[in-house]
Amino acid sequence: MARNHPLIEDAARGILPKWSRVSRTRRAHMERVAELMDRWSRARGLRKRDRRRWVAVGLLHDALKGARARDMRRLLPEEFHELPVPILHGPAAAARLEREGVEDRSVLNAIAFHTLGHPSLDELGRALYAADFLEPGRPLRPKLRKRLRKRMPNELDAVVTEIVGARMRYQMDRGRSLRPETVAFWNELHGGARWDHVSAEY
Ligand SMILES: [Fe+2]
Ligand SMILES: [Fe+2]
Repeated sequence: MARNHPLIEDAARGILPKWSRVSRTRRAHMERVAELMDRWSRARGLRKRDRRRWVAVGLLHDALKGARARDMRRLLPEEFHELPVPILHGPAAAARLEREGVEDRSVLNAIAFHTLGHPSLDELGRALYAADFLEPGRPLRPKLRKRLRKRMPNELDAVVTEIVGARMRYQMDRGRSLRPETVAFWNELHGGARWDHVSAEY
C-alpha cells in the first residue's frame, strides 16, 4: 500500500470526517488516544506513514459514538444489528470508512473491534485497544491504568492481555455473557485457539 487514504491523512492531522458525530468530551478522549498512539508509534520506531495510521485510528475510533443507533445499524450487515448500542459505533465507523474508500484492513479492523477485541487485531489494532483503555483522562481504575501505561509500548501483548482479562472479569462478575470475538481474542493472545468460526465481517 503506497499511500494513506485522504481521510486517514486528515485524521492524522486532527481533522475528523464531516460525518462524525461526537461531543466535545468525546473528542477530547479521542485526542488523548491519538496522542498515546503517536507516542507509542514513535517509541516503536515506525515509519512516518505508519505513524500517521496509528494516530489516525486513535482519532477516528469513536467518530460515530454520538450517532443514532438506527443510523449505525443501517451501515452494518444484519448479524451486527443485535449488538448492544454501546458497541455499534466501532463496526459502524469502520463500515463508513470502507464506504468512503478506505481499504486498509488493519485500520478498519482496529476501529471495528476496538471495544470487543478480535483475534485478527494486529499490532496497530492491539495498540488502539490498549490506548482506548489506558488514556489518562479515564476516571476508572487509575492505579491499574497508570501501571499498565508505564509498560507500554514495549510490553504490548502482555498489557493487552491484562486489559482483556480485566474487561472479561468485569463482565463475568456482573453475570453478563462474553462476546465470542472477545473470548477468541483472549485465546489468540494465549497462543491461538481455533477462531475461524468468528466472523471478521462488519
Ligand atoms: Fe469506543
Ligand atoms: Fe474510545
